[in-house]
Amino acid sequence: MPPMTSTDIAAPAEAVGPLMRGIAVLRRLTDAGGRQSLGDLARTTALARSTVDRVVRTLERMGYLRLEGRDAILAPGLMELGNAYLAAVRLPDLLGPHADRLADRLDESVSIAVPDLDGVRFVHQATRRRALSLTFRIGDLLPAERTAPGPLFAVDWTADDWTRWHERRAADPEDLRFPAVPPGRTGTRETFRDRTADVRERGWSLDDQLIEPGLVALALPVVDLTGRQVCAVSAVSHTSRHSAAALRDAVLPHLRKTVAAMEQELRQAPLAPPASAPPTSSHGLASWTAASKQELGPEFVESLARGLTVLAAFGADRPELPLTAVALATGLPRATARRALITLEHLGYVTMHGKDFRPTPRVLALGFAPLSRLTLPQIAQPHLAALVGQVHESASLAVLDGDDIQYTARVATARIMSVNITLGTRLPAYATSMGRVLLAGLPADEQAARLAATAPHPLTGSTVTSPTELAALVRQAGRDSYALVDQELEEGLRSIAVPVHDRGGRVVAAANIAMHAGRRTAAQCRTELLPALRETAARIEADLDTAGRYTRVALY
Ligand code: PHB
Repeated sequence: MPPMTSTDIAAPAEAVGPLMRGIAVLRRLTDAGGRQSLGDLARTTALARSTVDRVVRTLERMGYLRLEGRDAILAPGLMELGNAYLAAVRLPDLLGPHADRLADRLDESVSIAVPDLDGVRFVHQATRRRALSLTFRIGDLLPAERTAPGPLFAVDWTADDWTRWHERRAADPEDLRFPAVPPGRTGTRETFRDRTADVRERGWSLDDQLIEPGLVALALPVVDLTGRQVCAVSAVSHTSRHSAAALRDAVLPHLRKTVAAMEQELRQAPLAPPASAPPTSSHGLASWTAASKQELGPEFVESLARGLTVLAAFGADRPELPLTAVALATGLPRATARRALITLEHLGYVTMHGKDFRPTPRVLALGFAPLSRLTLPQIAQPHLAALVGQVHESASLAVLDGDDIQYTARVATARIMSVNITLGTRLPAYATSMGRVLLAGLPADEQAARLAATAPHPLTGSTVTSPTELAALVRQAGRDSYALVDQELEEGLRSIAVPVHDRGGRVVAAANIAMHAGRRTAAQCRTELLPALRETAARIEADLDTAGRYTRVALY
């Protein structure tokens, strides 16, 4: 059964239809785990196939999804919307470090969640999972009654909130509207109302295996200056380590201390900043806004793109904005911004406080959780495929592991090497182009130690075996930000590699193009391939930057 959303309530006359349809497509893709065929999208959203096609083309042009065969797949660029909400709400930036320290001290997972109607949505995760099959990510939504934070938030519920909760339970007895949790209900006999009543007395809340057998959690509320609960912090464990009662005894004092420090943090940096700093104009101008109508093509649905841009206007220094400021920040005409905000408010993605609009946690329902599960190789794969389509040579991604490089992504054209390179293949770093840029990216002391421990031996007649010469080549690769290795690993094989940096500027991987030496001279590699390879690395870095703002992207 399709989830009931506020779209079921009649939309205001001024609502922007294409924006509503675009959001419906993004929601479907999110609930499907990030990928769905266009035909299934049309069926599950009840939109005409031609409408789905136009919506998908528009979102593709915005960098929010990509097409692969018949499937639409969410793309990391979409995470800029969730990032805007997370920056605006400031909880991960202010309180995340406290949660991380508690996780280190307890050696257990610690998370921060906010209320989202009758659900609980994560905005921060410090994960130390053992023996647990489920790991939640930022953006995941859980039914309040199956969590530790749920009863804390339900203390504030109105009669209408309880009614909505009862209706949802009746309509969706298996929790199918919550793709992050296993369907069906496990756990104790206690009712949600009893657990909520207990919270009023004791201030903390337990989840004794309500999500899945073995998983236990203890949560405390975090209250701001005005006495409002802004979020809950949970410590999460497994019954093989702690029963629920033992978790409470062992962890409650530590959790209380962390919450006290968090509340202190909020007092020093109140969540509603002074409205003094006026937003600078044209901050959030998306790349497509510079393109002409002709470039964008007839399929591009401008009102959808404009409406989503409004969500990207919020941020750390713009947690709430009046209409005028939204128009200024997005470069949209005031009337356009107003209709977009009316639509987003109707759908629950912004709320009004006085004259100001604020993004809500529901913005994270636009792809954030499935996208935050992507690894660097998964992020790189479509960019490598595009490169291969352009240059018709094989392209790969690798990381450094000790003395070796290890392949983590690969798009091959023809087999050109005697070894068949697959994911996980290891090759000696010193004789490969990716190895040289990876070595060049190491901190100076590590690089020196690594080179000192390397005993290069001749793999071909061209292999550089002199340690001083190798060290000089690595330094050169660092200065040039690329390395070209000519038949040092294998006769007839030439490759060129560039580094891939994370948002902190650290080299976390290398990307290369490898080819038969007969196909291009070394000079041609530099002039014909290097620019395209650099552009590919820049695209991977841009995605990694967006994906890594609030989540930790696995490098392999
Ligand atoms: C989690 O952070 O994974 C978590 C938090 C609270 C729960 C269950 C899991 O009740």
